[in-house]
Amino acid sequence: MVSAAVVSLLLASLSPLASALVIRQTITELSDAEVAMFAPYSSFAAAAYCLPSETVTWSCGSLCDANADFVPVATGGDGSSVQFWYVGYSPSLSKIIVGHQGAYLRSAVLTDADFFLDELDEAMFPGLGALGVKVHNGFAEEHAKTAESVLAAVKTAMSTYGTSAITTVGHSLGAALSQIEAAYLSLQLAEASVNVIGYGMPRVGNQAWANFLDATLSVRHVNNKQDVVPILPGRGLGFHHPSGEIHIDDSDEWLSCPGQDNTSDQCSTGDVGNIFEGNTDDHAGPYNGVIIHSDCPA
Ligand SMILES: *[C@@H]1O[C@H](CO)[C@@H](O)[C@H](O)[C@H]1NC(C)=O
Repeated sequence: MVSAAVVSLLLASLSPLASALVIRQTITELSDAEVAMFAPYSSFAAAAYCLPSETVTWSCGSLCDANADFVPVATGGDGSSVQFWYVGYSPSLSKIIVGHQGAYLRSAVLTDADFFLDELDEAMFPGLGALGVKVHNGFAEEHAKTAESVLAAVKTAMSTYGTSAITTVGHSLGAALSQIEAAYLSLQLAEASVNVIGYGMPRVGNQAWANFLDATLSVRHVNNKQDVVPILPGRGLGFHHPSGEIHIDDSDEWLSCPGQDNTSDQCSTGDVGNIFEGNTDDHAGPYNGVIIHSDCPA
């Protein structure tokens, strides 16, 4: 459990260090070996679109076969009122993986006025209200539907496999859910060490939320070329990305973008600029050669 006081201290003590680091950071190209390290997670994120009846036995075709040693612990969701999810253990990564199904977020969903930044539930996210954290109300409501089931499955996985390393994965809406899930699990499970690997991730919360994530866990968000989802909802509405963007550029190089919402034209916020410059086809990838389909092809 990370208390609000501890988080404030963390933020206060990190900020001089963080600003010192930012000055020295540059946009760097990932090596082939670094790009390859994302491959299992790209398949895990894509597999979150598969039926829970398939992921429960890890028999969803090529996407499951890509991480053949994975041992599922629990799955759920119905794909309409509740997004699919799964929790299990990867022996080769020595990690618990939590996958959340996405939804092909159309820019209309993220630009209409049918959502707002809202405080999180204090019992689920103790201390974050005091930090001024607010997140997209629709994403938080979607996360809350499966939170208890996911937490129970993660606890089972932790005791069964003797590890506290957890990676949450997802694409699109699933990436947003994986970000909220990571914060939730790290606040609920004192011993857990959680990180996020998301693809085509929209903005989820405000600056205080981004700062909290940067101070307490690691979020890598991989964005493909001119995908419009990562620049939505707009910064003008108060939304802000945490650090950790990796932008796949037009020549298929993976660029690590330092800072939050880097406005360099090599990173999504600067490159895509506005929704008219975006290309919705780029949302699907490929990421490590994996096209992330909304219908989980075998
Ligand atoms: C964006 O990246 C550049 C390096 O090219 C860095 O100098 C700059 O500080 C970064 N911007 C932010 C907002 O972190």
